[in-house]
Amino acid sequence: MITVTGASGHLGRLVVTGLLDAGVPAAEVVAVVRDPDRAADLAERGVQVRQADYVDPDALDVALKGTDRLLLVSGSEVGQRVAQHGNVLEAARANGVGLVVYTSAAKADGTPLPLAPEHLATERLIADLGIPAVVLRNNWYLENYDRQIARAAATGELVGSSGAGRIAAAARADYAAAAVAVLIAEHPRPGVLELGGDQPFTLAELAAAVAAEAGRDVVYRDLSPAEHERALVGAGVPEDAAGFVVALDQAIAAGALDTGSTALSQLTGRPTTTPAEYVRTVLSR
Ligand SMILES: NC(=O)c1ccc[n+]([C@@H]2O[C@H](COP(=O)([O-])OP(=O)(O)OC[C@H]3O[C@@H](n4cnc5c(N)ncnc54)[C@H](OP(=O)(O)O)[C@@H]3O)[C@@H](O)[C@H]2O)c1
Repeated sequence: MITVTGASGHLGRLVVTGLLDAGVPAAEVVAVVRDPDRAADLAERGVQVRQADYVDPDALDVALKGTDRLLLVSGSEVGQRVAQHGNVLEAARANGVGLVVYTSAAKADGTPLPLAPEHLATERLIADLGIPAVVLRNNWYLENYDRQIARAAATGELVGSSGAGRIAAAARADYAAAAVAVLIAEHPRPGVLELGGDQPFTLAELAAAVAAEAGRDVVYRDLSPAEHERALVGAGVPEDAAGFVVALDQAIAAGALDTGSTALSQLTGRPTTTPAEYVRTVLSR
């Protein structure tokens, strides 16, 4: 049995449907969700939908019954995730799970990325468990740039403070395909994989891709951190969130997302979604 947590989320859902598309019988797939109504379509396809919150050890214990391989999709409640992930891992141990796969963050063990410490702590919990594990250090999603791409096409300007920092982003579908490949592999090789796009890009290069697709000039305006924060707040972003976005851009400027790894396309056997392809998708919506 293959169990996927966070299965009502964007990535988890893609993994569940990817498993079905790869020929895994629906009855052998478990989708763990907080709200089963949000996975009714998966249940209709024969997937076993089980309810559990990461804060509920008893429910997790029941939800993981019969699991051979588990994909733990990292939660979204920043600040609470280490304890939450610990509950899932404890349920995995109690249920004799044979393989744990975890969605971590780029260079989790040596990065200024503000989100990394919770991922690194989870990786350490996984190592302490002693269960064979594959850590998928997922780089940025291309989807993180949806709004900036649309805005750049409309205004002719893309704004940020990540300088010449390169971003090895890939589409969620690429990361989902990699997770599927690991979950269905005959002999998954335990270890840590840095997963990201084959074509790392700067925001100036992303602006050029928008220009090419939109058929208009688009410039990248690189701001100082203070200017960037002021611009975001001026555009209505709450101060905390603006500070967070600026901190992310500073981490990118320092190379946090420039992983230079082709492990993702090697796993899936196909090139990752290019920035140009992704821009085309966004602008054709
Ligand atoms: N690499 C990147 O650029 C990037 C960007 C954003 C996020 N992430 C990380 O990657 C994960 C997956 O991405 P995504 O796009 O699929 O995010 P998402 O759509 O927000 O999905 C997160 C999933 O985690 C579930 N979840 C959160 N807290 C939970 C809890 N306490 N108990 C049980 N389930 C819980 C959510 O359940 P509900 O469906 O009930 O809400 C949802 O299914 C995120 O959670 C985050 O850790 C990475």
